[in-house]
Amino acid sequence: MKKILVTGGCGYIGSHTLVDLIDNGFDVISADNLSNAREEVLQGVAAITGKTVPNYAIDLCDAHAAEQMFNAHPDLCGVIHFAAHKHVGESVEQPLKYFRNNLNSLINILDCMDRHGVKNFIFSSSCSVYGNAKDLPVTEQTPMEEAESPYARTKQMGEQIVHDFARAHSSHKNILLRYFNPAGAHESAQIGESPSTPASNLVPVITETAIGKRASLMVFGDDYDTRDGSCVRDYIHVMDLANAHTKAMQYLLSDDSVPTVDTFNLGIGEGVTVLEAIEAFMEVNGQPLNYQIGPRRPGDVVAIYANYNKAAAKLGWSPKRGIRDIMRTAWAWEKARQANAG
Ligand code: WQD
Repeated sequence: MKKILVTGGCGYIGSHTLVDLIDNGFDVISADNLSNAREEVLQGVAAITGKTVPNYAIDLCDAHAAEQMFNAHPDLCGVIHFAAHKHVGESVEQPLKYFRNNLNSLINILDCMDRHGVKNFIFSSSCSVYGNAKDLPVTEQTPMEEAESPYARTKQMGEQIVHDFARAHSSHKNILLRYFNPAGAHESAQIGESPSTPASNLVPVITETAIGKRASLMVFGDDYDTRDGSCVRDYIHVMDLANAHTKAMQYLLSDDSVPTVDTFNLGIGEGVTVLEAIEAFMEVNGQPLNYQIGPRRPGDVVAIYANYNKAAAKLGWSPKRGIRDIMRTAWAWEKARQANAG
């Protein structure tokens, strides 16, 4: 059984990826310092898969701790690197925290992989590397515009670090996965988006408002040049995103892939406006939502959505779920969280 290290494995996308990797026959370990996640998430993974995933609660910026983890697992054949700070607004207020954490952890992981002969690497990147893209849908050839935040810049710089590492280590194989807007939860409602810091992304804010954790939802602007005035995003169900990681690792481990760096967009190729997303939530769940229109949020791009043809052609990946599945599973997870909170 091939063993994969998933950094950030207790996080939202990381935990769902653990499930999909296990479902596809991989052995997995997690490294997560629990700065924005709880280790109890792995109980949910165990409830779904029957597997107890070990977590190394280490800071990946600590080179010695990372080295000890690799020493304990000489049979590792690949790494999926999710662990990073990801809050756009916080990155504007504390840029050095983001550069220090997101870049040093990446450098330590690549350094350990080099010294331990672990040759297959997947980097969690983001559509935010495109900035305010002018031509839509964006493809992997779309040029990167000026990053809208230090967070996005750490993703642009992280991609460059991987490219330079690959040039100097020609036996390694690397994939950059650029996520659009991950949302939703596993069908079982055993795992979902449960940040230890207050949610700022649209879908968890919708479900927290609907369940009464928030008084109302503010729509950040309805005066944009879009079909209904609100911003357009490409929402991808987290289980579709998880499966893309499994397919990317299977591709790296196959004979079809060659030592290099390959980049893939992961969105579903459909733009959905904020108001359409709200409507989908209310319709699919039969649940009213208290929202009002407010001012624009600084740093928001007006519209962005993906072209995922390359992932379909080379990884054999395609999304199986849409915005209604996202809203249905996100709501089921929110209700399960409330029931568990007692
Ligand atoms: C989506 C839309 C908001 C909350 C961020 C990161 C990106 C990626 C995904 C990591 C926007 C609107 C939101 C609210 C609202 N993360 N909104 N009211 O900003 O597109 O992307 O998460 O890779 O890198 O930047 O996601 O969910 O915050 O916003 O109107 O209370 O919903 O204005 O138009 P975003 P989001």
